[in-house]
Amino acid sequence: MRIDVVSIFPQLVAGFLEASLLGAALREGRVEVSVTDIRDFAPDRHRSVDDAPYGGGDGMVLRCEPTVAAVESVVGPGSRVLALGPRGRPLDQVGVRELAGLDHLVLLCGRYAGFDERIIELTGARELSIGDYVLAGGEVAALVVIEAVTRLLPGVVGNPVSPEQDSFSDGILEFPVYTRPREFRGHAVPEVLLSGDHAAIARHRRAESLRLTRQRRPELLEKIDLTEEDREILRELDHERARRTDERR
Ligand code: ADE
Repeated sequence: MRIDVVSIFPQLVAGFLEASLLGAALREGRVEVSVTDIRDFAPDRHRSVDDAPYGGGDGMVLRCEPTVAAVESVVGPGSRVLALGPRGRPLDQVGVRELAGLDHLVLLCGRYAGFDERIIELTGARELSIGDYVLAGGEVAALVVIEAVTRLLPGVVGNPVSPEQDSFSDGILEFPVYTRPREFRGHAVPEVLLSGDHAAIARHRRAESLRLTRQRRPELLEKIDLTEEDREILRELDHERARRTDERR
């Protein structure tokens, strides 16, 4: 996979790329990431890349000439151009998986008050948001996309089965995990995890995932197909909760 980041702060992106899992993936050639500086495409001597909005308003708008030229310098026939900004379609794990299947991503980072709308029109960019909050620019959002996508590429995470166990990969939250010691400051690891009974462990973990999801993100349960066993687990959790409420009365 190839990823091109197009930004007016290329140094912000470059530093991060050296780190952790991603750095190793880059060194091993599993993914190739390049950063293009929009300023290199500025038409004037002052290398200006932004200007005040027509019609008035706060902030500065990223100009079309250098930005479109910068994007055009990296796109090819199979590229997916994504413009990062808070009004884009929200990214989720399903979207991340789709992006991980593509050959070439172009991540266009906005700054200030946004992009001149013609940048979106002329580059065919799809707008993408990483959440309902506003960052100062798209660079950190681009890094979020890069990290979420590259960790799904074959061989990037040490244990190749682990991404499938993540929160959201089957639409619900991940169950709690434990490692040694068995007991720490009076907090013990759930007994079933030490039992060696794989079926019981799988059921316990599924129950914990369902319990956490219902507690924290109930809307996720509406979106997935629950199995008959899931429904049974949820009924048991209901009974447990009712029992505890009775006990407290
Ligand atoms: N740039 C500013 N805010 C953003 C957001 N929420 N997602 C992606 N890019 C952004």
